[in-house]
Amino acid sequence: MSDQTVYSLEMRNISKTYPGVQVLHNVSLKLRPGTVHVLMGENGAGKSTLMKIIAGIVQPTSGDIVLFGKKVKFNSPRDGLRHGISMIHQELSPIPDMTIAENLFLGREHQYKGTFVIHYKKMNEEAAKLLSGIGLKIDPGTKMRDLTVAETQMVEIAKAISYNSDIIIMDEPTSAITDREVETLFSLINQLKSQNKSIIYISHKMDEIYRIADEISVLRDGHYIGTYAASQITPDQLINKMVDRELKEVFPEKKAKVSQEVVLKVKNLSHSKKFRDISFEVRAGEIVGIAGLMGSGRTEVVESIFGIRPLDSGEIYIRGTKVKIRNAKEAIRHRIALITEDRKQQGLILPLSVKDNMTLLSLKDFQRGKIIIDRKKEQSKAKEYVSSLKIKTAGLQQSVGSLSGGNQQKVVLAKWLMKAPEILIFDEPTRGVDIGAKAEIYKLIADLAEQGVAIILISSELPEVLGMSDRIIVFHEGKISGELQKQEATQEKIMKLATGTNNREVTSVGVNE
Ligand SMILES: Nc1ncnc2c1ncn2[C@@H]1O[C@H](COP(=O)(O)OP(=O)(O)OP(=O)(O)O)[C@@H](O)[C@H]1O
Ligand SMILES: [Mg+2]
Repeated sequence: MSDQTVYSLEMRNISKTYPGVQVLHNVSLKLRPGTVHVLMGENGAGKSTLMKIIAGIVQPTSGDIVLFGKKVKFNSPRDGLRHGISMIHQELSPIPDMTIAENLFLGREHQYKGTFVIHYKKMNEEAAKLLSGIGLKIDPGTKMRDLTVAETQMVEIAKAISYNSDIIIMDEPTSAITDREVETLFSLINQLKSQNKSIIYISHKMDEIYRIADEISVLRDGHYIGTYAASQITPDQLINKMVDRELKEVFPEKKAKVSQEVVLKVKNLSHSKKFRDISFEVRAGEIVGIAGLMGSGRTEVVESIFGIRPLDSGEIYIRGTKVKIRNAKEAIRHRIALITEDRKQQGLILPLSVKDNMTLLSLKDFQRGKIIIDRKKEQSKAKEYVSSLKIKTAGLQQSVGSLSGGNQQKVVLAKWLMKAPEILIFDEPTRGVDIGAKAEIYKLIADLAEQGVAIILISSELPEVLGMSDRIIVFHEGKISGELQKQEATQEKIMKLATGTNNREVTSVGVNE
């Protein structure tokens, strides 16, 4: 393109320093109207920080933002919005007591003409339109607290788009939504492009990136590395730009054999409409993968095993003994850990330090005598995990709230691993985690299996399930639709079982609905 291109947005030499750390170094980026610009980089590379600067949420230490050729300065997100920049945040933080409609129109409520009285009817009507625009069939009067994470994320998307902004920033918008919702989002993105809007899209998912990117820019350790046409760069080349070291996304080889000892056995677990007749076993040292579409009941089943979702019927046995698990505390006492992708629910205490969050559950293990805690031991254990999980933090004392999203996820992992569980359930453990860190986590899971931990791995990423599991159980609409041994499992077989098309002729797309 010629030099006369009017960019919708230019970032010029943006730097950002927090006390003691510089997280962005002279980053310059240009955005073209009517395109999707993907921003990539490892966890902690500075992607979200840069986006918050553009949106007016964070102020840069130095550097300029130029909008359609004019220099601008934002002091608040409101300024950003006024100038046509909206953002879908990586961390969802809805106000639970608000309705969807109130949340969508927060700060710009519809009012009766000439008054300050809120026009709820009109607001609800407008909200209903927005929701149907994103294919969400929910009453706009529903409280935010009653939404699933996926629905919350869709509402965030609707909200960001509703401002009719010229520039829409999407920071990992698909971390919690289903495949079908991803399709809805992608077609929305195409509409936005045709209206000449620019989208900045952040994701760690390669397949997604290549489907929608026009250009891809890479950040590494707060430095701008380059911008590439998506059609001109391969995934391997991209990874290279991101990590600057040799990296093959390999699944570790598992050496130890699965033992004969059944550690966990569940029998006929049922829960009203969520799942029915779920029975399976997990042995010591075994990794059992659970595949299935989102909404197929996988998460609900493991939540029941962990005691946080009541069962209507069914039995749970641990090492042959029947147990009743009524809450998370009891589950932990039975040495079960459940690690989910939902960081908020995982009870990270954001203002507390990395160390304090890590040792939250296992403080007792560091006790010497009745009351004294061996701080040295606690410190060194925390240090160990920071280094083995490659957590990017200024130190053990940095607050978890100021870590990047992916690094917060790693702290969750460390916290549970410190409890030395015997039954370890992972629900989408690598969501939002960069490619390098994924490999680390896979290695860690395999190591735990070698040590005899019984592992359940729920994942929507088929390569992950295939690469890691000894055996794969597939869910379809709340039931187990099949089981595959490692040797026989393929993506195709799993998909057939997951969509319920295994025994049926596929006559049209979406036959699984
Ligand atoms: N308020 C803060 N105080 C100190 N450091 C911070 C603060 N906010 C962010 N950082 C640091 O800035 C760095 C960049 O974080 P950022 O959230 O931008 O990363 P990211 O590229 O979005 O990563 P991810 O892929 O994990 O979301 C991190 O090392 C983070 O700890
Ligand atoms: Mg981020």
